Amino acid sequence: MNVALRELEWPDLAEVGALDEQLFGRDAWSPQSWWSELAGRPRRRYTVATAADRIVGYGGVDCAGATADVMTIAVDPRRQGHGLGRRLLDRLAEQARGSGAEALLLEVRADNEAARNLYLRAGFEHIQTRRNYYRPDNVDAHIMRANLEVTSDD
Ligand SMILES: CC(C)(COP(=O)(O)OP(=O)(O)OC[C@H]1O[C@@H](n2cnc3c(N)ncnc32)[C@H](O)[C@@H]1OP(=O)(O)O)[C@@H](O)C(=O)NCCC(=O)NCCS
Repeated sequence: MNVALRELEWPDLAEVGALDEQLFGRDAWSPQSWWSELAGRPRRRYTVATAADRIVGYGGVDCAGATADVMTIAVDPRRQGHGLGRRLLDRLAEQARGSGAEALLLEVRADNEAARNLYLRAGFEHIQTRRNYYRPDNVDAHIMRANLEVTSDD
């Protein structure tokens, strides 16, 4: 089934919030957080992936100047492993580059192997570790960085 990418809109928030809760559990964003993320446009750019009118993935980037930050990225468990995460990440990188950013930064849990591999495959480098950053599990955060001129390995 075809998957299309488009900008996140207000009516999407309930569906995105439900998927966020399914994927991130107690670390999911509250409805208020989602609301303020969307209100933070144009600096915050959020993209959804849709298939047959259902949201099957989403991602967001903060375009704040020379360095942009990935805010979140996620794919419906039934759709994982088919390149959608990479497609969303490429879209965020494209938006960051378009805003004038020269680099893209993100934080990822050290125990999130799928996400770390996604970022490594897309050209991100692990540049720093924040020890015990994620509570209450005391899991390290890896800070990763991509030069926007060389993110693609395609
Ligand atoms: C991380 C996530 C977005 C990846 O999405 P996806 O659509 O499954 O990823 P893709 O199919 O585009 O895979 C891209 C690369 O990621 C890596 N990857 C994806 N799933 C993986 C897994 N289960 N184990 C190991 N590596 C994996 C692979 O290196 C893959 O590249 P390759 O197939 O060329 O080797 C998805 O697993 C997810 O939504 N996880 C839950 C939410 C989350 O943790 N988000 C990240 C927060 S920092």
